[in-house]
Amino acid sequence: MPTITETATTSPIGQKTPRIDGPFKVSGTAMYASDFNFAGLLYAVPVEATIANGKIQKLDTSEAEKMPGVRAIFHRANIGKIFRSVLQPPSSGIADERRPPLADDVIRYYGQYIAVAVADTFEAAKAAADTVRATYTTEKPNVNLDLQPENEPEVVETTHGRLKRLQSERGDPDKAFASAQVKVDQTYVTPAETHNPIELQGTIAMWDGQMLTIYEESQGIFNLRSVLAQMFGLSKEDVRVITKFVGSGFGSKLWPWTHCALACAAARQLGKPVKLVLSRRMMFQSVGHRPRTQQRVRLGATNEGKLVSLMQDYLNDLDILGGYHENCGEATSYFYSVPNLRVHWGRTRRNIGSPTPMRGPGAVPGLFATESAMNELADQLKIDPVRLRELNEPKVDEGKGIPFSSRHYLECLQLGTERFGWANRNPEVGSMKRDGLILGWGVSGAAWISGRFPAQASVELRDDGSARVACGTQDIGTGTYTILAQLVSDKTGVPLNKIEVVLGDTSLPPGPISGGSLVTGSMVPAVFDAADNAITSLLTVATTESGSPFGNRTRDDLAFESGRVFAKADGPAKGVPFSDLLRHTNMRLVTGSGKSEGTLDEKKPKVSMHSYGCHFVEVTWQPATARLRVNRVVTVIDGGRIINPLAGRNQIEGAVVMGVGMALLEHTIYDPQNGAPINSNLADYLMSVNADAPLMEVHFLDYPDTDVNPLGARGIGEIGLAGVAAAITAATYHATGVRVRELPIRIEDLLTSSILA
Ligand code: MOS
Repeated sequence: MPTITETATTSPIGQKTPRIDGPFKVSGTAMYASDFNFAGLLYAVPVEATIANGKIQKLDTSEAEKMPGVRAIFHRANIGKIFRSVLQPPSSGIADERRPPLADDVIRYYGQYIAVAVADTFEAAKAAADTVRATYTTEKPNVNLDLQPENEPEVVETTHGRLKRLQSERGDPDKAFASAQVKVDQTYVTPAETHNPIELQGTIAMWDGQMLTIYEESQGIFNLRSVLAQMFGLSKEDVRVITKFVGSGFGSKLWPWTHCALACAAARQLGKPVKLVLSRRMMFQSVGHRPRTQQRVRLGATNEGKLVSLMQDYLNDLDILGGYHENCGEATSYFYSVPNLRVHWGRTRRNIGSPTPMRGPGAVPGLFATESAMNELADQLKIDPVRLRELNEPKVDEGKGIPFSSRHYLECLQLGTERFGWANRNPEVGSMKRDGLILGWGVSGAAWISGRFPAQASVELRDDGSARVACGTQDIGTGTYTILAQLVSDKTGVPLNKIEVVLGDTSLPPGPISGGSLVTGSMVPAVFDAADNAITSLLTVATTESGSPFGNRTRDDLAFESGRVFAKADGPAKGVPFSDLLRHTNMRLVTGSGKSEGTLDEKKPKVSMHSYGCHFVEVTWQPATARLRVNRVVTVIDGGRIINPLAGRNQIEGAVVMGVGMALLEHTIYDPQNGAPINSNLADYLMSVNADAPLMEVHFLDYPDTDVNPLGARGIGEIGLAGVAAAITAATYHATGVRVRELPIRIEDLLTSSILA
């Protein structure tokens, strides 16, 4: 009786799997938020403040209002009520810029929105926005680069609630440092960096009575819903957020920004759908950036290279009203074994837009500082930097006093050493040469958090042999659509090309934010649970519904494998494809719901869950022209079980290329005169592009971390950026003799090199 149905014979878990959404993207049929169009759609363009510190004296909208096609110019007096929102613990209501747009006449950063023009076309709205005249009382903005801590109490409010500024402490680090045989005491600086996803941020907002629907390129649709519900005084059931595709975000789209509320408020006032898409310039002003950090790191060690003291005192700058904390100490307390340690932080306010997480927030600038200090210590001790790290490998997480779930950092270093050819290193500065170029070699470690957010999912098995999996998480370009299909295929035997994955809609089961490299790890148990429940439902149908060949069996007699239901006594060969079973019983589908809990809010975690890795970097230095190039990078990642090695390698390679940009190019410059980010375009804000990409070799250790989920999969979106810059500055020192402690490395820094032609 069984008809032949196409079923996957082997699980796609761990197989190089091309993205199932790839064809939609390359054919232009993938619908990004601002691609949607609706009858009567109007266009909004915000008006930006052209000062960074002061007050609006007068706003003249009269001329703009009279322009052709203009529907309205909204400002504080006519936008209608926009309420405040607050954090809703544990993980809702999050926003870095909390002030509702247009809430007062005070200007606190350049580009703050002071009005919004709405018209029948984008061009008319832009022309009207440009015609609005504002006069201000202006004070000199504070965008000083030298960071001094504000006089804040030891416990402060942050975006995510109250935090102690004394982040971690053990032993007596001051005393141990004072008496240490060898010391490093240096300050490292990372600049403001701006996320530059190719897709601009924007919102389409529309109202149907009390019901608000928005299309937005969000990395966290449920959080966005919770903020909008508060801002417009709605119950969350009355707000729907849709995000089908995201042209990347790097963190800038994690939390809501003010343009979204402006679009919603304008649509409410006019009773029409409104589309508001930011310009690239606005993307530098009002949707977050990685803040400037200044970190003093002190290391004390014995002559043999054993750490005795580690102190990290770090600062980040932030906006005037916000609570952003750049967690540079995230990896410090557990990465190396050291009996005496203190990590302490502070902040300092500036007339700039709010910072927000950017790929590897905290740990990426933090590890630049601490890994640079480790490299400097190795040079002082004349110990190989890999050896120094081996000498200080901890047995447990000494910050929390708990075991690691799965840590293979030393194996990363060993494999990297072999693959790179590190044994051939001559540590003397400027000593290694090839083809007329000086070679510089450097190494760094990497670490990033792991764990799970709470997640829910549903799985359907359908009578045509297809399956559907749904979750209100997002795919921000990282491969989430494909991973979910792989998980369902593994459980149900349905081939990937017959699995429909539905994401990005708050009407679906709640899913995690696309942040913290945590989606994959979070989704595994929820999708598995949902698939198991769908299969259970199928077996119930098999024993209870007329038309089933298993009508005389009990539920326990049956099993499911590779898409077939069979009697255990007869074996899978005599089984029936689930599609046949559904058709014979006149069922279109069976559904299962699944759920898994988060790990991040555990008060007393039993294990310390992180991913690890390392980078070995070769730079070339051409003294005659002062040309520095990152030539070759070998990266080894201990990221748990890798579900899709193709997308996984792609994540790490992308991160390494971004790390080259972090080390050599990226920095946002605020004009001290008017506070404007002056390189606010893709011509002047330099990022590494294909031509800057080094030869890259990526290796995964592939040790499952079953504390995270049954497959042992951790996320790998951010770990690849951690440490890259420290390895590049170490390699640069090795080639040039110039120690750069403030990023990015500039040609001017290198002109002091003694290794010049
Ligand atoms: Mo990432 S900075 O958590 O989007």
